[in-house]
Amino acid sequence: MDCYVINGGKPLIGKINVGGMKNAALPILFSTILVNDRCVVDNLPDISDVSHTLEILTSMGAMVRRLTKHSVEIDTKPVKMGSAPFDLVRKMRASYYIIGAELGRFGKSRVAYPGGCDFGIRPIDQHIKAFETLGTTVTVENGTIDAVTDGGLLGNQIFFDVVSVGATINAVIASVCAKGVTVIENAAREPHVVDLANFLNTCGANITGAGTDVIKIKGVPSLRGCEYAIIPDMIEAGTYMMAAAATGGNLFIGNVIPKHLESITAKLQEMGVEVIDGDDFVIVSSPGGLNAIRVKTLPYPGFPTDMNPQICALLVQAKGTSYLTEGVWDTRFRYIGELKRMGASITVEGRTASIEGPVSLSGTTVRAVDLRAGVAMVIAALSARGKTEIEDIYHIERGYEDIVGKLSGVGADIKRITRPGGFENSRMA
Ligand code: EPZ
Repeated sequence: MDCYVINGGKPLIGKINVGGMKNAALPILFSTILVNDRCVVDNLPDISDVSHTLEILTSMGAMVRRLTKHSVEIDTKPVKMGSAPFDLVRKMRASYYIIGAELGRFGKSRVAYPGGCDFGIRPIDQHIKAFETLGTTVTVENGTIDAVTDGGLLGNQIFFDVVSVGATINAVIASVCAKGVTVIENAAREPHVVDLANFLNTCGANITGAGTDVIKIKGVPSLRGCEYAIIPDMIEAGTYMMAAAATGGNLFIGNVIPKHLESITAKLQEMGVEVIDGDDFVIVSSPGGLNAIRVKTLPYPGFPTDMNPQICALLVQAKGTSYLTEGVWDTRFRYIGELKRMGASITVEGRTASIEGPVSLSGTTVRAVDLRAGVAMVIAALSARGKTEIEDIYHIERGYEDIVGKLSGVGADIKRITRPGGFENSRMA
């Protein structure tokens, strides 16, 4: 089993550069199926979710060539419909983008029902609603989704009942080559929705309004390949911002879009952390003596649900009672037990965690229960007294490139070790 061993209590000081955004990279890579041509994707994060996505594309017939660690050439002309390997797709949430891409290109799709990190029930009814509104018949049987059209998709008005990143992206991908105009209402506004739309527009699509809650797509007959660079990962940036604050450090976090970090910056400042914005960097330093605050996670531009565990790891240090409410997923507090093992004083009622502080955490053995929960354990361990061992780090490595190298470079005492035995699971995007 692979673990991180962290000796905490050292302030992080120096510079960290952020990589490309995982949750933009995955839909862009899957949407190359629709492009049906040769694309070059740059600023790709070197993480296991990207490798698995490329593995799925290769199994489907795509010619995939790594140009550099962060750049890949993909030619999807040879891709065959319905050829995505079930065992890989089942374990990777983002593989549902294959449905939108296959529908747009072949007029039909056959894919395993997607899995994903365990945040309670993760329905895909809004994805199915969008496909049906565009003229698709969808059936789910024996763990397989079959989507069929009568000669291709037809543009229409889609109104989402909930704001869903995945359903918005899937509806955009599916409608790019549909006949006529599609209007998506109550769309997600996340920067990765905008990035996907920018990629598809560079390939010849006609998408306007991405980044607002109404997206308009005028169908085009086909797309052409392009070269495109993914935007920086706001969640990776936000994670290092929390780590700087939690260790009382001073970090220059480069290659970011500060606008995407506004909700995170605002909450840190409310706690008493100093944040300076530059053109493409932020500097985070903490004088200590943090204030308790209230945080509620919401769709963008609200405070991101993918920062829920990381801010919780910081809130244990704030004086007084902080309240952290999860506003996106039914449950996202499975990590609380692990923080309590390190001495945190937290109670959860419904969707709200009450965090009593300040508490000085102490090191022990903890688990990464999912990707963001896992990285929150890294933040907790960096700020704790003594040694922490974090198990099940394959979750963390799905989404964070070279986290050990980046943290060691700014003064952390962190090592990756392999213990004999144990069980490595995989892929839960
Ligand atoms: C994306 O998941 C991200 N994953 C998640 O990040 C992130 O937590 C989430 O968006 C919210 O920002 C990827 O991009 C691969 P949603 P997604 O559809 O698209 C409900 C990480 O750590 N809903 O926006 O699957 C759903 O239950 C991962 O990087 C429906 O009801 O999330 C939830 O309450 C974990 N019906 C809410 O909408 C649907 O058909 C938001 O989900 C779809 C969603």
